[in-house]
Amino acid sequence: MSAVLAEPPQTFEIRRLPAPFGAEVLGLDLSRPVSDADFERIQRAHWDHHVLVFRDQRITPAQQVAFSRRFGPLQIHVQRRFQLAGHPEVLVVSNIRDTQGDPIGLGDAGVFWHSDLSYKERPSLGSLLHAQELPNVGGDTLFADQHAAYDALPESTRQRIAGLRAEHSYLARYDELRRRNPWRPALTPGQIAEVPPVVHPVVRTHPATGRKALFVSEHFTTRIVGLPEADSRALLDELFAAGVRPEFTYRHQWQPHDMVFWDNRSVLHLATGTPDAERRKLYRTTIEGDAPR
Ligand code: SIN
Repeated sequence: MSAVLAEPPQTFEIRRLPAPFGAEVLGLDLSRPVSDADFERIQRAHWDHHVLVFRDQRITPAQQVAFSRRFGPLQIHVQRRFQLAGHPEVLVVSNIRDTQGDPIGLGDAGVFWHSDLSYKERPSLGSLLHAQELPNVGGDTLFADQHAAYDALPESTRQRIAGLRAEHSYLARYDELRRRNPWRPALTPGQIAEVPPVVHPVVRTHPATGRKALFVSEHFTTRIVGLPEADSRALLDELFAAGVRPEFTYRHQWQPHDMVFWDNRSVLHLATGTPDAERRKLYRTTIEGDAPR
C-alpha cells in the first residue's frame, strides 16, 4: 500500500511592491501543486498586502479555477454571455471583437471604482485576473486601499458613518453603461431577479485581520439608508473621494502572464482603459466571501 505524500513546498519569494501596498510573488508556479503550507503563506500575504501579483503564470483556465477554489466557492457572473466556453466560473474581460464584430468579453468591466460583486448579499472575497493578451499602451488597473482611506478620515466623519448602512445595486449605472457601450447586453428579467439591491455596512471589518475598511463605491452604491437624498448623495460623494486619494492607490502595469489577486474586502479597483486600436484580454475568477459586518 503506498503512502499519500504531502505536496513538497515550492521555493518562492513574496516581495513588497514599491507602492503603498501590494506585493509580488516570484518563483511560484501555479501549474504545479501548491502545498498546504505554501497556500497558507499566500493567504496570509493576501490579507497583509491586499493585492498579490503572481508573475509569469503559464496556467490554463482550469488551473486558475482550481487555485481560486482553494479560497472558497466561486461566483458565476450575471453576464453569462462573457463566460469562457467550458468554464462558467471564468469571466472574459476584453475589448476584442470576433470576426462578426461581436465582443468576446466584458469590454467595460471596471470603468468605475468598485469592489467586485458588492451588490450581492455575499460579495466577493477576492478576484483573480490572469493576463492573456495585453495592449502596448494603456490597460493599467488601479487599486485603492480602503483600510488606509478609513484610517485617514477625520474622527468626526468616522463617528458619523459608524453604524450607517448603504444600498448596493448591480443596476445602479447599468443604463449609463449601455448608453456608452450599446454592445452591452440588455439584462433579461431572470438576470435582473438575480441581482436585487442589497444593504451593507458603510464600514466593514475584515473577517481575517479585524481591520476596518470603507465599503462604498461609485459604481454600485446608490444611497445611504435612512438619510435624505441630498445628504446621502453628499456623504457618498465625500466618501468616494476619500476612498481613492492618490496616496492610497497602486497602479498595476501589466506584464505578460501576470495573475493579480486582490482582496475585495480591502481595496477598490478601476480599469483605466485601453485605446480601441489595442487588444486586451484577461480571465477573471471571483471567490465568494462572507456577508459584510
Ligand atoms: C474588473 O473590474 O474586474 C476588471 C479590471 C481590469 O480590467 O483592469
